[in-house]
Amino acid sequence: MIEIFDMNVPGQRKKGLARAVAALEAGEVVAIPTETVYGLAADATNGHAVARIYEIKQRPRFNPLIVHVASRTAAEGLGLFDPIAERLAGAFWPGPLTLVLPMREGCGIAELVTAGLDTVAIRMPAHTVARAVLGAFQLPLAAPSANRSGRLSPTTAAHVAAELGDRVGVILNGGPAPIGIESTIVSTAGGKLVILRPGGIASEDIERIAGMNAERHDGVVRAPGMLASHYAPTAMLRLNAWSVRPGEAFLAFGNEKLPGAENAVAMRDLSPSGDLREAAARLFGSLRELDEAADVIAVAPIPDIGLGVAINDRLLRAAAPRA
Ligand code: TXA
Ligand code: MG
Repeated sequence: MIEIFDMNVPGQRKKGLARAVAALEAGEVVAIPTETVYGLAADATNGHAVARIYEIKQRPRFNPLIVHVASRTAAEGLGLFDPIAERLAGAFWPGPLTLVLPMREGCGIAELVTAGLDTVAIRMPAHTVARAVLGAFQLPLAAPSANRSGRLSPTTAAHVAAELGDRVGVILNGGPAPIGIESTIVSTAGGKLVILRPGGIASEDIERIAGMNAERHDGVVRAPGMLASHYAPTAMLRLNAWSVRPGEAFLAFGNEKLPGAENAVAMRDLSPSGDLREAAARLFGSLRELDEAADVIAVAPIPDIGLGVAINDRLLRAAAPRA
């Protein structure tokens, strides 16, 4: 049976928090809101609990998970910070930045979390509910997005319930995820700045704080978010469409009036005013809605700057041929 707590209602918030912490202490998984997407959280120091995450998501075991922490001190107990990582954490934490750092020996993180790597991906989330859970539980939480493997990430509690049904016992409903797209994953190893996954913080902003140019990943799959056909809806996506064909749904941007759009079987505009932050926040929810309406979704061109880079990355993956 799923218990869903509305964390914006004071009475339920307290009860939800207590239930979540009790479940985590018992080695169970709990779905929690973060500012990026909803996460499926488990005690990162408990290998059995982490194994449940993989089981519930039906995720290939070799994919390492992000460890969520309450504080910089907690992060420093897990990973070895270099000066660039320190600057980035200082500027963007709490927030949608994940740092891949050398793992501190004996830090207690279950091997399954890092899939045996000697690095650990760490993030300090900003969402008040995620912070409340971390603060009350007092141990780091491994938490991938709360969807089945290869599917769209959930940005509402209803998405989580639709994805996972009663495979998860507790869902904390913290409202729609305000950023709506996963964290930016950065490696600073060897004094180089590498963006392993574009996400909720634009690489331009990361480069400005780091004081150096970023490299995009080198094509070696170090983050499974890089695999083709990730974040897939059931419908086919037709990207950079300049018209909408009969029978298609239409994902618009910036109030663009494409030929044929008036006949689209369903339409969502990611941001009528052309705001890329708003577009990121609405991306996964809009794809889910259009997915119900048509077999093909025509997608308007999205500017490839700022958060548009992460949006285009997710759209490309959603459009990739399925395994
Ligand atoms: O916004 C987010 O990051 C969300 C919320 C829930 O925090 N989490 C999320 O987790 O997107 P997940 O598991 O769906 O994606 C984790 C990514 C994967 O692509 C994984 O390969 C990468 O992080 N990753 C984890 N540990 C890594 C490591 N040591 N080196 C390189 N990549 C790593
Ligand atoms: Mg994911």
